[in-house]
Amino acid sequence: MTNVNTAHSWALVTGASSGLGVDFAHELAAKGYSLVLTARRKDRLQALAAEIEAHHAVQTKVIALDLAEPGAAAELKRQLHGEAITIDVLINNAGFGIFGELIEQPPARVQAMLQLNIAALTELTQLYATEMVQRQRGQILLVASVVAYQASPNYAAYAASKAYVLSFGEALHEELRPHGVTVTVLSPGATATEFFDVSGQQSTPMKRAFMMPSRPVVQIGLAAMRRGRASVVPGWKNALMTWSTRLLPRIVQRKMAHWVLRKE
Ligand SMILES: NC(=O)c1ccc[n+]([C@@H]2O[C@H](COP(=O)([O-])OP(=O)(O)OC[C@H]3O[C@@H](n4cnc5c(N)ncnc54)[C@H](OP(=O)(O)O)[C@@H]3O)[C@@H](O)[C@H]2O)c1
Repeated sequence: MTNVNTAHSWALVTGASSGLGVDFAHELAAKGYSLVLTARRKDRLQALAAEIEAHHAVQTKVIALDLAEPGAAAELKRQLHGEAITIDVLINNAGFGIFGELIEQPPARVQAMLQLNIAALTELTQLYATEMVQRQRGQILLVASVVAYQASPNYAAYAASKAYVLSFGEALHEELRPHGVTVTVLSPGATATEFFDVSGQQSTPMKRAFMMPSRPVVQIGLAAMRRGRASVVPGWKNALMTWSTRLLPRIVQRKMAHWVLRKE
């Protein structure tokens, strides 16, 4: 992509090299958004950008970077500002989990996960929310998880990072709504992406029973964003599971979660 068309509406999708991010990109391009695609794997981003430009009358910009590096969110914003790209829709999707007991996990990997899932997400959201409020317009979607709804042994730090995303996003929804900016939290359950290859969690009958394809999860998230909803859980099984946490004592919730997320 060479000359940026600033008349286009632009969406920024983090974690666009696989899984949900790829489908966010396709769905937003189909709605006419030009796209900034970011993740670490540049070859994947470039292939996706070429496919999107071949099928839709939109522009794309690929920025390969590691969002787990401190300062990466500000660097991303700086690069886009340099190209006069204004972001109307921010999809904060990049994230990963680590399955297993915390004491078995490499500390540096846990720190990188928290930096990506929490710090980079917060920084990028704040940077773009500030601009959107000045324009009195904008939409932000944050990807949390059903594990945000209860303590989740074997995903202790990951689930806690997603509880942060859920709480942060719903609170921000109220703060920004009077300024014409919507914030929506999408909390998927098990979804067929590369997530489990990265986290190291084996396939189980329970997981397979809940597994959703990525495309409908993304469509449900984007529909909720367009309606200005604060929060959405895709799929009736996932919705029932998260709703049931309101009824059960926390000790029951975490023991059930431990059983569901047990190591095989
Ligand atoms: N799949 C599920 O079951 C599930 C359930 C609930 C919530 N989620 C959440 O959904 C979101 C998307 O995950 P997914 O399921 O689509 O998994 P995925 O296929 O593994 O995609 C994760 C994306 O995040 C990017 N990413 C990872 N580390 C990064 C880093 N340091 N800097 C920049 N980008 C990075 C990856 O790109 P690179 O590797 O190229 O950097 C990739 O594009 C995540 O926030 C995840 O926690 C997933």
